[in-house]
Amino acid sequence: MSSSNTRLGTVLLSLTLISWIGGYECLVNSKCNLEGKWKNELGSIMTLSPLDKNGFFTGTYHTTVTANSNLVTKESPLMGNLNVFTADTQQRVFGFLVNWTFSNSVTSFVGQCFVQKDGTERLQTTWLLRGSAATEEDNWSQTRVGTNVFTRLN
Ligand code: BTN
Repeated sequence: MSSSNTRLGTVLLSLTLISWIGGYECLVNSKCNLEGKWKNELGSIMTLSPLDKNGFFTGTYHTTVTANSNLVTKESPLMGNLNVFTADTQQRVFGFLVNWTFSNSVTSFVGQCFVQKDGTERLQTTWLLRGSAATEEDNWSQTRVGTNVFTRLN
């Protein structure tokens, strides 16, 4: 390989690294990167881990309400993914799944983070709560749908 080819290779590699690191910095430092503690209008609290470079995150969810009144709630794990397609670091969309550790159900949330004029962030979400049907005939009855709005606690 000629020395000009080697130089071109080095430049291209450096540019790739700089853009990769720059993108990751934006994801970590920007508003709406999701990491932290959030509370919704029902009083449920979720805590989200730092995101990796592809927007993947994990966390825990403590719900104040349940579909059946005899359930005793326990903090439950969640995993999700923030969309990082555009360079626009605000107003990103995301999805996450909570796997309830005290009931035979899971909830998937999809939503978008919005930055208010005063700089505060709000997560507008829509969820599907899937319970377990005793028989396939009862399958139709086990999906609830709703919305939640989360604001940051820290
Ligand atoms: C269950 O009842 O089987 C598990 C708990 C479900 C809690 C739901 S998920 C959607 C809504 N938002 C909350 O914060 N809690 C309820």
